[in-house]
Amino acid sequence: MSWNARVARVAPFRVMSLLEIAQAREAAGHDVIHLEIGEPDFATPAPVVAAGRAALDAGQTRYTPAAGLPALREAIAGHYAEHFGAAVDPARILITPGASGALLLASQLLVGPGDRVLMADPNYPCNRHFMALAGAEVDAVPVGPESGWQLDAERVARHWRDETRLAMLATPSNPTGHMLDAERLAAVADTVRARGGALLVDEIYQGLCFDLPPLSAAAIAPGAFVVNSFSKYFGMTGWRLGWLVAPEAAVEPLTRLAQNVFLAASTPAQHAALAAFTPECRELLEARRRELGRRRDALLAGLSRLGLAPSLPPQGAFYLWLDISRYSDDSEAFCRALLEEENVAITPGTDFALAGGEHHVRIAFTTGEARLEEAVSRLERFLARR
Ligand SMILES: Cc1ncc(COP(=O)(O)O)c(C=O)c1O
Repeated sequence: MSWNARVARVAPFRVMSLLEIAQAREAAGHDVIHLEIGEPDFATPAPVVAAGRAALDAGQTRYTPAAGLPALREAIAGHYAEHFGAAVDPARILITPGASGALLLASQLLVGPGDRVLMADPNYPCNRHFMALAGAEVDAVPVGPESGWQLDAERVARHWRDETRLAMLATPSNPTGHMLDAERLAAVADTVRARGGALLVDEIYQGLCFDLPPLSAAAIAPGAFVVNSFSKYFGMTGWRLGWLVAPEAAVEPLTRLAQNVFLAASTPAQHAALAAFTPECRELLEARRRELGRRRDALLAGLSRLGLAPSLPPQGAFYLWLDISRYSDDSEAFCRALLEEENVAITPGTDFALAGGEHHVRIAFTTGEARLEEAVSRLERFLARR
């Protein structure tokens, strides 16, 4: 039996095998510091858990409409109006199983065999894989500090080909934590529109930013497809809930796809998420954002002491993209050795970058400051032996 050839283009997530080794070491009694997985150590906010529990008690366990609970779509529209100055009709919002569900819908709608997609390299690998599963080819454009680790209008114009149908951005980015500002985002949107293409913006780390105010393509580029999630800012990774903002004309085919692909997102999770927009919850989430900012600063201070701080500090998300070329040109071996010798788990850059991944690693500042400082001390000891 042979498998669908498109599946062969989906690479495994190397961090998962590293996680397995880390867990085995933990089970054997080692004190492992986890800086590998994209999930902070915060629990889902209590009001959200309470709302989820109440929904279950009230028997809210049947399918919702495919596009999601009307009340949740309205609450998300209210969130855009209040925090991003964007007038988004709730009818343009589809609730999905995580941002992953939104990415599946958008990629299936927008591209197919023969089409090409532009995105930055490094990027979140699943975004590449969604495009490959739709049959499209990805042109991953190398970016670095000179373009703020993001695509810009000039790069989009330079790499656009006749077959290019879609440009994809992610801000703040995984794995670098860098953001596009409103002006650069608008310039990319104009460049894409002038070429008759579509723009897909992954805003799953929206709200988790430390230097610039958060922004949304929903306000800046109204024709864009915008992906978001309850996973990261709202602390709901395991509830599997996200959303897609789409142009009006795309809502009907996207709803048809959703009806067929997953019927609807989780009903209890949707009821729980309604509680994420209360002032009480907002206060808690903002305190967590500030805590992540303090963690970033602590990690940067530690890395500066080792002469390793990146030239551009991350502005958002909870990741730091670190150049380790002074020590290694094999980031997978580097991460394995750091885990085995010092019990610190980080992610090899090869998961995210087609170019340069072998001399970069991603550190997730998802644990408290004291543990981050301990991780830096262990890293120092490890590097002293290199
Ligand atoms: C950039 C980016 N997009 C999308 C996702 C998918 O998130 P979820 O399906 O949990 O919403 C992730 C998860 O880490 C991510 O980093």
